[in-house]
Parts: sequence; C-alpha cells; structure tokens
Amino acid sequence: MKGGGYYSRVNRGTKQVISDALDLVETAIEGMLIEDSDRVFAIADYGAADGGTSYELVRNIIGMVRARAPKRPIVVNYNDLPKNDFSALFEMIHGEDEILGVKSYLKDYDNVFILASGTSFYRQAFPDNSIDLGFSSTALHWLSEKPGIISDHIHAVGAKGSELKAFAVQAKKDWQTILLHRAKELVPGGKLVFINFCIDEQGRYLGNTAGVNMLDTYNAIWLELVAEGTVTNEEYTNVVFPQFYRTGEEFAAPFSDPNGEVCKAGLNLDQIESRVVECPHAATYRETKDLDSFVRAYVSMLRSWSESTFYNGLDPSRPPDERNRIVDLFYGKYEERVRRTPEEHAMDHVHYYMMISKANVP
Ligand SMILES: C[S@@+](CC[C@H](N)C(=O)[O-])C[C@H]1O[C@@H](n2cnc3c(N)ncnc32)[C@H](O)[C@@H]1O
Repeated sequence: MKGGGYYSRVNRGTKQVISDALDLVETAIEGMLIEDSDRVFAIADYGAADGGTSYELVRNIIGMVRARAPKRPIVVNYNDLPKNDFSALFEMIHGEDEILGVKSYLKDYDNVFILASGTSFYRQAFPDNSIDLGFSSTALHWLSEKPGIISDHIHAVGAKGSELKAFAVQAKKDWQTILLHRAKELVPGGKLVFINFCIDEQGRYLGNTAGVNMLDTYNAIWLELVAEGTVTNEEYTNVVFPQFYRTGEEFAAPFSDPNGEVCKAGLNLDQIESRVVECPHAATYRETKDLDSFVRAYVSMLRSWSESTFYNGLDPSRPPDERNRIVDLFYGKYEERVRRTPEEHAMDHVHYYMMISKANVP
C-alpha cells in the first residue's frame, strides 16, 4: 500500500467501520478485570496500516482503561507487515501530521507508550500472556499465501469449484493459525475485538450490496485490457487477491468444537454479528451531487488498497513506468464507469464484528 499516511487520508469508510466498534470495545473492557498496578496494560492493533483509522478508538480505549486504572502504564502495539510505512504511523500518532486534525492522545494521557511490531499476524508477534486487549479491523481477510489460481476472476468471491475450495481450505487453516497465535499472546481473561470482511447472511460483501459489484468491475476492466492487447493472458491470471471473505459459520466453526485446538487454547466466541457501513463517498455524492469530487475520492480510495495487486501482477520485465501507465489506464477506466453511472457505485463495507475472550484459567 502507498505510504505517507495516504491510507488514512482516503479511507473514510474503514475509519467509520472502526468507530462503529466502540460498543464492542466498551463491553470487552467492562468484562475485564482491570486493576490499578505497575503492570503494563497492553493493547495490540493487528494490521494497523498507518494507525490513522483506529486512532480515535485507541484514544477511547486508553480513556476507558485510565478511568479504572489511573496509574497503570499503557502500551499500544501497532502491528503490520514489515514493509508497512511505520514512519508515517509514528509521525501521525505523535501529532506531527495534520491528517488527524486532532491532538495526539499522547498529549492527553501520560504513561502511554507506542510500539510497533513488523511481524505478520500469521506468526506469534508478542510474548506469551502479554496482550490484554487485541483489536483488528479489515485485515484478517488477507491470506498467508495465494492457494492457487482463479481462472476467470481476480478475487475468491468469483471463484468456483475446486478453485474456490482451495481458497476456502486455506482460509480455514489461516483463521485457526491467527486464533492460536493470539491465544498465546493474550493474558488469561484478555479479549479480542475483531472486525472482519465477510460474506454476510444475505450474501452481501464489500462493494456488493446493491448496484454495481466492485470486484466484478475490477475483473471486467482487467479483461478489457486483455482484449485490447495491453495486458497478457498470463498477467490476467497473475492478478488474484490473496484474500477470502469468510461467512459467519466459517468464523464461528473453530469455537464450536470443544476438542478442537482453539477451544483447548481457552478461546471463546462471546459475540458475533454482521454490520454494513455505508460508503461515505457515495453518501456525500448523494448530498452534494459533486461528480468530479466523487469520482476522484472514490477511485483514490479503491486505489489505496488494490493498486499494488494489479501492479505486481504485471510482468516484472516491463519497466516501472510502463507498469504505472497500465495501472493508471486501469483506474482511468474505472473512473469512466463511475462517471457514467455514479449512483450505481458504492463500496459499502460488510463486516462481522466479533468479541473473543481467553479463559481466566487457561
Ligand atoms: C485494509 S488495511 C486495514 C488497516 C486498518 N486496520 C483499518 O481498518 O483501516 C489492511 C492492513 O493489514 C495489513 N496486513 C495484511 N496482511 C498482514 C499480515 N499477515 N500481518 C500483519 N498485517 C497484515 C496490511 O499491510 C494493511 O496495512
């Protein structure tokens, strides 16, 4: 993903998704034994990107913990992949970037420390029994690896038969891996609040709630570039998002087998429900009817999380300029489509919001 705080600047939707988790976080913290002591209260944000979208929620968490434990040191661990732009994150959280438009929580609360962990959430990222509250939003749909090709789509939502099965099997394995590592990291009585992309009870998923299907549109435009001779067949199949949107049943499955490893590790699924957050860009357009602003903001937001997948699917023998030109052409075509039927385009977010706890006696 692009660095320099670009992610937070253009992603109003994911910020709203996180704000909507406040009730879950409140319930999680209310249910925890938080004593005032010298022991660190550790928060982890898994897949935090530049930290801007979860910033207000983290401020709220700090406030809630501080109210019950005035002297307790608090550490916020921001986790993401090694190549994440952690410099942008530190600049933002220290209030050296205007992007947040609010005072850094580090200026409001003392005895609060921020640390970064550049270790994949597919590994244990923190020591045993060290995290009190783990949080993750819109990150755990990224698989640990691409389990195969999808011959006629760029995303598992369009896969069928054995190709879909390979993604589902990988996603099942990965969900268990994520949970088992978090079970080790959590203190007994610790909690996880996870907000994950999904396919909900009505078959809805990101950018597929009504109107144009966003991922089908990506696929159609990528195919258009093949038909025009700009992108090769091989480059077409190279582009597959290594992601999977799990169903509620798939999220809940590891918790329902008392002899399974997740239950034996002491994890319990306390709460799970799907929620849809309306695309803020589409909502603004409906009010303002400012088409240029909508097209620009909407496609920039799409670009912020998808561009690298298309760029990396292009043959590495092409010079970077050429790859950038093709990617520009791709998003230019997306812009044209939005311009033609703006009211049909929206990236509504569809997530399962879940709270998980680790037993007090492991
Ligand atoms: C769409 S962003 C979400 C950022 C933020 N949590 C939010 O909700 O706005 C997904 C983030 O997950 C990170 N990510 C993907 N796979 C990861 C992994 N295996 N370990 C840690 N972070 C990962 C990406 O680098 C990216 O920053």
